[in-house]
Amino acid sequence: LFAGQCDFTAAANNMPALPPMGLPEICFAGRSNVGKSSLVNALTGRRMLARTSQTPGRTRQLIFFDLGQRLGLVDLPGYGYASAPKTDIEAWTKLTRKFLAGRQSLQRVFLLIDARRGVGKGDSEIMKLLDESAVSWAAVLTKADKLKPEALEKVCRATEATVATHVAAYPELFVTSSQAGDGIEHLRGHIAGFALQ
Ligand code: GTP
Ligand code: MG
Repeated sequence: LFAGQCDFTAAANNMPALPPMGLPEICFAGRSNVGKSSLVNALTGRRMLARTSQTPGRTRQLIFFDLGQRLGLVDLPGYGYASAPKTDIEAWTKLTRKFLAGRQSLQRVFLLIDARRGVGKGDSEIMKLLDESAVSWAAVLTKADKLKPEALEKVCRATEATVATHVAAYPELFVTSSQAGDGIEHLRGHIAGFALQ
């Protein structure tokens, strides 16, 4: 799946602009700067596919990609911080929440959590929204390369404990580094399970 074609298909900043549902889809959600766009690039092996930045608030629309017409990937704007007008941030937050709760083609939401920060307030709110909407989600720790093994182990245990309290959560915690490549092949294998044959 990831060895084949991957193309940008659409960008949307309001509900009517969303592309029609067709393929099964997965998406990447999480705090601003957590590494969503970097993970899309690491998974697809295309460094410049999704725009990344050191400045939080880089991704300002829902960005849709298509993997060989078998699976849709969606890179979402982050929550928590953005160097943009407050009204814009509110609009993205609203759109992202609507998308997460109501997009029927979503097979699983990957909720990214910075390994250095652990689960935060914004993350808990999204977990609650997904639980209430009965949308399957899985937690993904990002930037694992930034931590020493003991510290990583600790945040893994804490995150797993949080995940275990949520009804719509997939039990496995994915631990990744888009920079070092840790966990990327494993996550690819998991995601491939959602693609059309
Ligand atoms: P928004 O679009 O603003 O919501 O951010 P995002 O979640 O898409 O984050 P993005 O992928 O743009 O990455 C943010 C910053 O984190 C960039 O400077 C990346 O280089 C860095 N980053 C992402 N993944 C990793 C990683 O695995 N390890 C390290 N060390 N840095 C990473
Ligand atoms: Mg981004």
